[in-house]
Amino acid sequence: MTRTLLHGGTIISDGIESKDDVLIEHGKVLEIARYIEDADETIDVTGKILTPGFIDCHVHFREPGLEHKATMKTEAASAVAGGVTTVCEMPNTIPPTNTAAALADKIRRAAEIKDCDLHFFFGITEDAHLATLIELMSSSAEESIRLRNRLAGVKIYLDHSTGDQKIADALLDGVFAACAAHDLTLVAHCEDPATNAQAALQNTRTNIAAHSLVRPAQSEVIAIERAIELAQDHDTRLHIAHLSTEGGINAVRDAKLEGINVTCEVAPHHLFLTTDDYERLGTLGKMNPPLRSQKHRFALWQGIIDGIVDCISTDHAPHTLEEKQAGEPLKAPSGVPGVETMIPLLLSVAAKHWPNPGEQNAACPKLSINDIVRLCFENPNRIFKLGKQSIAKEHTADIVVINPEAEWTIDAKKLHSLCGWSPFDGWTVKGRIDRVLSAR
Ligand code: DOR
Ligand code: ZN
Repeated sequence: MTRTLLHGGTIISDGIESKDDVLIEHGKVLEIARYIEDADETIDVTGKILTPGFIDCHVHFREPGLEHKATMKTEAASAVAGGVTTVCEMPNTIPPTNTAAALADKIRRAAEIKDCDLHFFFGITEDAHLATLIELMSSSAEESIRLRNRLAGVKIYLDHSTGDQKIADALLDGVFAACAAHDLTLVAHCEDPATNAQAALQNTRTNIAAHSLVRPAQSEVIAIERAIELAQDHDTRLHIAHLSTEGGINAVRDAKLEGINVTCEVAPHHLFLTTDDYERLGTLGKMNPPLRSQKHRFALWQGIIDGIVDCISTDHAPHTLEEKQAGEPLKAPSGVPGVETMIPLLLSVAAKHWPNPGEQNAACPKLSINDIVRLCFENPNRIFKLGKQSIAKEHTADIVVINPEAEWTIDAKKLHSLCGWSPFDGWTVKGRIDRVLSAR
C-alpha cells in the first residue's frame, strides 16, 4: 500500500499553525509529526502551506437543465483547481431542487464526481415544496435518510433572481418554523421585492450601472431585517446569503448581539469589486445583489475583521459569454463565476497584495491564512453540518497545498469553468493552489 508523505510544509488547521510532516495512506492521515521517514513516496512541500480542502457553501452548478452554461463535472473541476473540495449547490436548476425526485437526481449525478463533495440546498417557492421538505425530514424510510444526508439546508429567495424562485409570502412563517423544527439552516437571498419594484419604476437609465440602482442597498437591508425578525420569532438558524451592504452588516451585528441565531456570508465579487468596475466589466459585473459603492465594500471587510461575517462563499453562477453580452445590458442574466478564484484572491490579501489592478494603491485589509481557513472551512462546515475534517491523525486526507509566494495572473481561458470568462481576468494574485489531495 502506498504511504505518501507531505514533507516540510506548514499545516494551518484547527486554528493552529504547525510545521509538521503528514503521512497519508488509503486517503487517511496516518501520522503527523515533525519528521517522518517511513514512506513509499515523498512530496516535498517545503515552504508550502497545508490547509483542509476548502468549502464553498454557495454555488450554482447548473445541472440539470442548464448544461449549456455549466455542468457538475466542469464546475467541480473548477472548484478543485481553486482548492475547494466541498460545495453546497443551489436549487435554481431545471427542474429546481424542490421535489424529492429532483434532489435524488442531483445526488445520483453528483455520485459520478469523485474529487469534489457536493451537498444540495432544497428550494421552496410553494406549499407542496414545504410539505415535501417536512415529509423528507420526518420520515424514517431509508431513502429519506439517504437524501437527508446530502442536504445542506433550505434556500429561499425573498425576491426574484435568476430562475424566478421567489417564495410565496404566505409561506414564510411555515418555512422558518419547519427549518427550526428540523434543525435545518435556512439560507435567505435577501432583497425586498417592493423596494426593487419601486426603484425599477423610478429608473430611466439603460446602462449597466443602473443595475445597482434598481436593486438598491436599502432593498437588501429591509429584507435582511425581515428575515432576522422571522428567525427570532421561530428560533430558526438563519444564514444570510451574499450580504453586500453596510446596513446588512449592521443588522447582522445587532441580531448577533441580541443572541439571535443568524450567520452570514459575503462573496468575493462584493469584496474585490465596486460600482467603479462596471466601466471595465460591463454586464460581466452584473449579479444579484449587485455591485455596491466603496463604502459598502469597506463595511464588508470590516465585518470580516470584526467577526460579523461568518463565511466567504462565491455565489459561483456561470452564464455563457454570449448570454451575458447579448441585448440590453439590464436584461443580461445576473451572476458571475468565482469558485476557482476565491482562494487565490483571498491568499493575495493575506500576502498584502491587493489584486484589483484598477486600484493599485489600495490598502490591503487584514486577513491571515488562518482567517481564510475559518471563513472558508471551519464556519461553513459547522453552519451546514457538513462533517468535513480538519488535518489531524486518522482524519480523511482532504488537503490543499498552497504556495503562498507564487505570483501569477488569472487567465479566464485557463480556468476550468465551462463559461470561459471571469470578472477577475488579467488580475495578478499572490498565492497559488499547488496541489489538492481530495478523498471522499
Ligand atoms: O447573480 C446571481 N446569480 N444571483 C442569484 O441570486 C442567482 C445567480 C444565478 O443563479 O445565476
Ligand atoms: Zn446564488
